[in-house]
Amino acid sequence: MNVLVAGGTGFIGTHLCTELHERGHDVTALSRSPDDADLPPGIDLAMGDASAYDSIVEDVDGHDAVVNLVSLSPLYEPPEGTGHREVHLRGTENLVRACEERGVDRFLQMSALGADPDGATAYIRAKGEAETVVRESDLEWTIVRPSVVFGEGGEFVDFTKELTTPYVTGLPGGGRTRFQPIWIGDLVPILADVLEDDARVGETYEFAGPQVATLADVTELAYEAEGKSVTVVPIPMELAKLGLTAAKSVPFIPFGPDQARSLEMDNTLADNDVTAFGVELEDLTTLREHLGLEVEAPAAD
Ligand SMILES: NC(=O)c1ccc[n+]([C@@H]2O[C@H](COP(=O)([O-])OP(=O)(O)OC[C@H]3O[C@@H](n4cnc5c(N)ncnc54)[C@H](OP(=O)(O)O)[C@@H]3O)[C@@H](O)[C@H]2O)c1
Repeated sequence: MNVLVAGGTGFIGTHLCTELHERGHDVTALSRSPDDADLPPGIDLAMGDASAYDSIVEDVDGHDAVVNLVSLSPLYEPPEGTGHREVHLRGTENLVRACEERGVDRFLQMSALGADPDGATAYIRAKGEAETVVRESDLEWTIVRPSVVFGEGGEFVDFTKELTTPYVTGLPGGGRTRFQPIWIGDLVPILADVLEDDARVGETYEFAGPQVATLADVTELAYEAEGKSVTVVPIPMELAKLGLTAAKSVPFIPFGPDQARSLEMDNTLADNDVTAFGVELEDLTTLREHLGLEVEAPAAD
């Protein structure tokens, strides 16, 4: 298959392009700055801005499939002049339109767990609206909604450390927001399987990791991996939100009201669709394992 991976130079894109290339597909990674990519030889590069139709339409031409991984991180307040609608919604509209006009049928849309046009944050709303664009298209689409993804090149663990300090740290609501992070090494083969199997067309899949962890748990693991301990002190959610909203940002990280809101939203899954791809929940890698920490033996009966 001849695949264009839009956003193929990012965290998930780098891993997915490598996996598709190793499976024998012809892969092109598209982004605004493809030369910065850390991709293995043999993967072609294309330059384009998904929010500007004319800059990507020629790149889409001639492919069998397009994967949309174009992203603006929800963890940080967007820099001035960019926004989630522009990147996630407009970018999707342009890629879908280019595929329809240039006869590229297969389309894999990377959405996110909780995507909802009426959701609480600009990211979640744009992801929800983008899903609607994809579903209403003439394409042979599949939509994938992962929980937060961790692994080499990912920002989740680093972000947690930026938000906190070792030894004693305050977290809004005591860091009780629940996540179910999935390892990039578990997610990417499933994404490649989705793309290769026509039976996945017209489906929406939700993927998460094997364990639910609170933000406080993730913070503790991140510091434990560095041999440091941490005690989490709760900051009342309303107070944190007020402080973050009034200041618009806290020192060092661009953190705004949407980021505070997202810390109130659990990001977990009851029915994990990894099992539809022959993957058992116990086969999935935990964050603890990924960080190289000792795994507790299960309690004896
Ligand atoms: N990482 C997670 O935990 C997670 C969880 C759930 C869902 N997702 C979704 O998975 C997808 C990929 O996420 P990721 O973590 O891999 O993101 P990422 O590391 O931030 O990579 C984003 C990619 O998009 C490119 N890009 C950004 N704006 C662009 C534009 N206007 N036109 C063309 N390319 C553009 C970037 O390259 P340039 O900057 O050079 O353009 C980069 O290649 C996104 O849809 C994200 O919402 C991620």
